Amino acid sequence: MYAIEVLNLHKSYGETEALRGLTFKVKPGEIYGLLGPNGAGKTTTLKILVGLLKPDRGTARICGRDIVSHRVEALSLIGYIPENPVCFQNLTVKEFLEFIGSLRRLDRESVEEAINHYLDLFELKGKRDEFIGNLSRGMIQKVLASAAFMVKPKVLIMDEPMAGMDPEAQHVFKEEVKRMASQGVTALISSHLLDMVEKFCTKLGIISRGELIAEGSLEDLKQRAGEEASLEEVFLRLVGES
Ligand SMILES: Nc1ncnc2c1ncn2[C@@H]1O[C@H](COP(=O)(O)OP(=O)(O)OP(=O)(O)O)[C@@H](O)[C@H]1O
Ligand SMILES: [Mg+2]
Repeated sequence: MYAIEVLNLHKSYGETEALRGLTFKVKPGEIYGLLGPNGAGKTTTLKILVGLLKPDRGTARICGRDIVSHRVEALSLIGYIPENPVCFQNLTVKEFLEFIGSLRRLDRESVEEAINHYLDLFELKGKRDEFIGNLSRGMIQKVLASAAFMVKPKVLIMDEPMAGMDPEAQHVFKEEVKRMASQGVTALISSHLLDMVEKFCTKLGIISRGELIAEGSLEDLKQRAGEEASLEEVFLRLVGES
């Protein structure tokens, strides 16, 4: 069974066709990088997968659960990092993580343990009682990552998760995702940071104008663009051709 199935998704905002028959599948334990230029439809896709938007046509499943007809079951398997973290300015870091824990019905003890673990991992111990609204962009990303990891997801859905993270935080983040993936967790990551996904993702999908235009391992994609090509060259060539 696939961990994520996206099948012929269509989504328009008024006249704008954001997704035009997008299809891809992700196997358990894969770290799948969804790459594409601004406006390609990455955020729209991820929002559909976490139930924030309804597709006009097509289906999507998380571990076999249809995200429309079995919404709650599908959502309970997901850890999500949104693109624009605008909420909860007036909660402290600890309160926010406790709130997420209670939404997901985790027991208090394991929530406390997870909070300690991730704040330590991301070097945020000193910010435990700080309001979210007073954190830097990178710190907010670390808190959101902690929240997504903490809920013990089967599937991580992350929209530009490393935006604003410093190199050390990016390293910690990637190591944790890899560790979780080695235990069978699946990750879907949208990113612009091509060099960041290069040695991290096990599979890449390139999306342009709402359609998947290429997919494969980094090696597969490089072969299409010539041996010596960097991921950046591959990306520019494939998007240019579409
Ligand atoms: N709420 C909205 N209302 C109208 N149009 C929207 C809305 N959200 C997205 N769009 C449009 O849908 C298309 C896809 O947007 P989306 O945010 O999914 O792209 P993206 O790949 O995430 O881009 P980026 O790399 O800039 O984050 C764009 O043309 C965008 O302008
Ligand atoms: Mg986006």
